[in-house]
Amino acid sequence: MSGHHPTSELEHPVARWLDSRLPIISAMKAQFIDFPTPKNLNYFWTFGGILMLMLVVQIISGVVLAMHYTPHVDRAFESVEMIMRDVNYGWLIRYIHANGASMFFVAVYIHLARGLYYGSYKAPREVLWGIGVIILILMMAIAFMGYVLPWGQMSFWGATVITNLFSAIPLVGAPIVEWLWGGFAVGNPTLNRFFSLHYLLPFVLAGLVFLHVWALHVPGNNNPTGVPVKTPKDAIPFHPYYTVKDGFAIVCFIIFFAFWVFYAPNYLGHADNYIPANPLVTPAHIVPEWYLLPFYAILRAIPSKLGGVIAMFAALIVLFFLPWLDTSRVRSGAFRPMFKVFFWIFVAACIGLGYLGAQPAEGIYIVFARILTIYYFAHFLVVLPLLGIFETPRPLPNSISEAVLKGQGGSATVPAGAASAPEKRG
Ligand code: HEM
Repeated sequence: MSGHHPTSELEHPVARWLDSRLPIISAMKAQFIDFPTPKNLNYFWTFGGILMLMLVVQIISGVVLAMHYTPHVDRAFESVEMIMRDVNYGWLIRYIHANGASMFFVAVYIHLARGLYYGSYKAPREVLWGIGVIILILMMAIAFMGYVLPWGQMSFWGATVITNLFSAIPLVGAPIVEWLWGGFAVGNPTLNRFFSLHYLLPFVLAGLVFLHVWALHVPGNNNPTGVPVKTPKDAIPFHPYYTVKDGFAIVCFIIFFAFWVFYAPNYLGHADNYIPANPLVTPAHIVPEWYLLPFYAILRAIPSKLGGVIAMFAALIVLFFLPWLDTSRVRSGAFRPMFKVFFWIFVAACIGLGYLGAQPAEGIYIVFARILTIYYFAHFLVVLPLLGIFETPRPLPNSISEAVLKGQGGSATVPAGAASAPEKRG
């Protein structure tokens, strides 16, 4: 897919000089300007760019917060309050970072659901998908450790509950938990190492995102039809078509993000985290942030502690095997009538699990959590393998261009003139 762009094509002599020594300009041009991209990508394909923006926002706001934050059990809470009151625009930077984490997960769940619906995980994009799953798991770990840093009640008790999960591992469980804590309870060494890792891991994430985009640029983008690019007519250059589309989506997303930051900055957080951590008082309900709730519900749905821990991790690990569990020859859900129904049932099950994760682990809530947990796994292990065998897909278009002109599987019906634009570019 990656076009060949010799250094000699560059106009500016300094650019040519640099590029003949380190071909970075021609590589950028080939990958982010001329890159042939399917012409029918809809707005769900803008979330990768939105996620890149969010990663940058989180790193910059986080680095600034770290300039004023003190990772010590006696000082952490008040240092955060000091950021809110005494640091110039500290309240803004903190609210951007805290709500930015939520927005990051909004975007990543939409991005992931897009991949699930359009079959973007299928060959030849398995490695791209696998790197995405690693990114998701790492994002969860980073967010969890970040939530501990203000050292409020939810920080402390969240850290206690989650680190204690490892004690369920037979024989080595207890030593592992002590090793994680750096002591005999969640305390100062725990806070310090969480701070250290919370600072470090986003840069590892950035490295993984680089690999993710690299793995994307080998096969190129999937598209709403799932039919691969066959002729140059099916594709358009990334710039200006998708730079503009991504730019517009980013602006809309920033407005959505700003709504939370300026109008409801604490809505997505928990009030108990404005109470300083107290190891002697357990909050009535210990709940993680909303984006971890479905997995928390799965954890608590299983009667045994070890079973719950295994199920929770399995809920993420199963995603790695998706490219091989989905047996359908048709990639895009747009042409799979039964898959579509099950896809939405699955989305509803995930939302249901999220709701149940925030309820007390008792009575009817537990019953529903068990049913939805079974359904979550059945979707991957039973429904998808069987659908590929029993479902009759709708006929696929011969090409992306044909689908676009018929107005199916594309973002919009593109006027005939626009559809032939890439040919005219010569
Ligand atoms: C920090 C988080 C992430 C960033 C910055 C990121 C970035 C991107 C970008 C820029 C693209 C190309 C544009 C697009 O298709 O939207 C992309 C594509 C893709 N990503 Fe991600 N991604 C992230 C997380 C994930 C996760 C968690 C998964 C799945 C588990 C995933 C799976 C995919 C797949 C399958 C594609 C190819 C889509 C297609 O062409 O149909 N990504 N990603």
